[in-house]
Amino acid sequence: MPNKILINKKISEFKKKIEVSSDKSLSIRAILFASQAVGKSKLSNLLESEDVINTLKAVKKLGINYEKKGKTYEIEGFGLNGFNPKNNLIINAGNSGTLGRLILSLLVRSEKKIKLIGDKSLSKRDFSRVTVPLRNFGVNIESKGNCLPVEIQGSNFLRPINYYENKGSAQCKSAIMLAALNTRGITKIKAKKSRNHTELFFKFLKIPIKIINKKKYDIIEINGLHQYDCFNYIIPGDISSSAFFIVLTLLSKNSELIIKKVNINKSRIGIISILNKMNANIIFKNIKTYKGEKTADIYVKSANKLKSINCPSKLNSSAIDEFLVIFLVAAKSKGISIFKDLGELNEKESPRLNIGIELLRMIGVKVERKKNDIKIHGNPNLILKDKYSVKNFLKDHRVFMMSCIAALTLGGKWEIHDKDSIKTSFPEFINILKKIGAKLNWKKEKISSLLL
Ligand code: S3P
Repeated sequence: MPNKILINKKISEFKKKIEVSSDKSLSIRAILFASQAVGKSKLSNLLESEDVINTLKAVKKLGINYEKKGKTYEIEGFGLNGFNPKNNLIINAGNSGTLGRLILSLLVRSEKKIKLIGDKSLSKRDFSRVTVPLRNFGVNIESKGNCLPVEIQGSNFLRPINYYENKGSAQCKSAIMLAALNTRGITKIKAKKSRNHTELFFKFLKIPIKIINKKKYDIIEINGLHQYDCFNYIIPGDISSSAFFIVLTLLSKNSELIIKKVNINKSRIGIISILNKMNANIIFKNIKTYKGEKTADIYVKSANKLKSINCPSKLNSSAIDEFLVIFLVAAKSKGISIFKDLGELNEKESPRLNIGIELLRMIGVKVERKKNDIKIHGNPNLILKDKYSVKNFLKDHRVFMMSCIAALTLGGKWEIHDKDSIKTSFPEFINILKKIGAKLNWKKEKISSLLL
């Protein structure tokens, strides 16, 4: 089957109940925490995507065995710094920033030299945001500029640090937290608000942590070298994967969707606040708390009176992976939507702010840009009739999925390349689209306009 799909028909009305793939952030963290626990942890409903499989492979290379029994992965850890790596080991984080950045922090005491590499996209991303603080702990790290490959050799003489994380990056914050866990003494982090899954893992595993929540940032104190026991964890659905189906429903006629058992951690649901401010009516039912994390069933219906938003930038971090589809909603809303301070979007698997703007302009939407602030001129009557082709050379999964949602809701004839990119985060994406009724095909057709 070719690595692209063709869409030339909008999706017909639907009323469905679905489950999306499991949460990627939680799956990767669960494996990394299990790899440092004492004993056999049991992780159920783990996302089986490339980023997560690469995490399993990475810990295996470091000497941690795992076994799959039914739907459960059993991972046997030997406590903090319980890895047993070979000399000159190479770990490949593939496409995953979370794996690449967090695994370095688990190697801060490793006696052996270990090299971290990644794919073309990850090799373009900024690793100095973690290598700089790790060097402050006393770790030896060599890198090529700010990027991969990175070579790390740990130290037995680490010292705790005080660090100000000012980007609102959960990967950066979590990397420092995990290094702090491996360092004697108290590390203090002042961190701009970002997803707090790592903090919740610390709490549920009873690892000493103090958190003071301020309006714009959190103060986190970690007293390191605390061993913790193995644990059981069931991973819920991913709000970032749900986002594509939420927007599919909002922008389709007479449709309704229920998405079962999704993680609705407050630091992840910026998209819901943003879309509800734009006149969507997205509701959570059956809300539960599990090991500090909240889950719910998400109810969403077609929206026919969407209005523009002046998006408060305090919501940026909690919607960071969802802006591409939020831009689509803005394009189909009444009025001019304003989004500010979106520079971090260009630090993702591809420069998503640039690509999002290019894609909107390709379909005829007026977008004004001043540095990292944009204005999207919405049009509730936006209907596409032309032919479009989307290729992104860094094979960004979210660019592929956003393009599919644009094609299925706005019309036009689309050729969307790099279908395999969904394997990194949401392997079931196409199957779920088909289940809801999307007509997708793979037949050849010549299409001229091209987005690179
Ligand atoms: C993630 C944090 C975010 C997000 C990424 C996953 C995490 O990245 O974009 O998909 O699991 O911590 P940043 O921390 O770089 O913003």
